[in-house]
Amino acid sequence: MAEPLTLQPFNHGIGVFDSGVGGLSVLKAIRAALPHEDLIYVADSLFAPYGDKSHAYITQRTLELGGWLEGLGVRALTLACNTATGVAVKALRDRTRLPVVAIEPAIKPAVTLTRTGVIGVLATQQTVLSENVIALCKLHGQGKQILLQACPGWVELVEQGELHGAKTLSLLRHYIDPLVDQGADTLVLGCTHYPFLQPSIEKIYGSELKLLDPAQAVAKELVRRLDQLKLETTSKDTKNPLDSSKLGRTRLVTTGDPVQAGHVMSQLWGESIVVEHLDIWG
Ligand code: DGL
Repeated sequence: MAEPLTLQPFNHGIGVFDSGVGGLSVLKAIRAALPHEDLIYVADSLFAPYGDKSHAYITQRTLELGGWLEGLGVRALTLACNTATGVAVKALRDRTRLPVVAIEPAIKPAVTLTRTGVIGVLATQQTVLSENVIALCKLHGQGKQILLQACPGWVELVEQGELHGAKTLSLLRHYIDPLVDQGADTLVLGCTHYPFLQPSIEKIYGSELKLLDPAQAVAKELVRRLDQLKLETTSKDTKNPLDSSKLGRTRLVTTGDPVQAGHVMSQLWGESIVVEHLDIWG
C-alpha cells in the first residue's frame, strides 16, 4: 500500500469529495467546466457506503474530509454526495470558512419533464429519509406523484466496478420495475454513484425512461460561486485557453485500497489514472 499522503499545499485548487468513487460523475462535469482548475478528489471508500449509516457517522466523515481538504489549502469545497448533503451539509457549512457547493436530487427539473406525472427518485436509504428530500418533494411536487426508492446494493456495485453484468441488471430491475409499473416515466438519479449505471438502465428500459443527473448543474453552480466570490482561477484569461500546459491538475485520493481504487476509478474516468492513499481514521 502506498505511503499515506502528507499535508501539502494544493495550489488553492477545488476540493471534491464523496463516500466513494461515485462523485467522479460530478468531478467529470467540474473538469469540463473548469479546465484550468486544480482539482483534488477524495473517495472515502474505506468508509463507504454512507447510505445505511447513522447521522453521527456520516457527519463525522463529512467533517473529517472537509477539514482535511481545507487544511490542504483548497479555496472551495464540492460535496459530491447526496447522502452527505442530506445529513451533514449544514454541519459542514457551520464548521468551514470555505464556500460549499453541494449536490441534491434533481426533483425540480423532473417535475417539469414528466408526462405521466409520476417520478421515481432513486437514492440511498438516508437520502430518501432526509428532511432535504422531503422538503424538495413538498416544494416542487404539487400535483405529481413522487416515489422515493432506496436502492441498497447499487453503491457497492459501482465501488466494485460491476456496471454491466447479470447481477447488476437484475438488481437494477429489482428497484426500477415497481416504479415503472406504477407509471413513472422520469427517474432522478439521487446518488452520485448511479450515473455510472445509466448505460445499463438504458439497456433495459431503452428511451422509455428519462434519467436525470444533476452533475452539470453542480458544476455550473460551482463556477457561479467562484465567480461571485472572485475566487475563479486567473488562467482562464490566457490567450490560448486550451493550451495544455495551462490545464489544471486532477489529483485523486482514497481512504481505501489505492490499487483497487485505481482500477475502478480508471474504468469510471475513462482513462488510466493513479490514485493515492489517504489515511484518515477519524
Ligand atoms: N455517492 C453517494 C451519494 O450520492 C453514495 C452514498 C453511499 O455511500 O451510500 O449519496
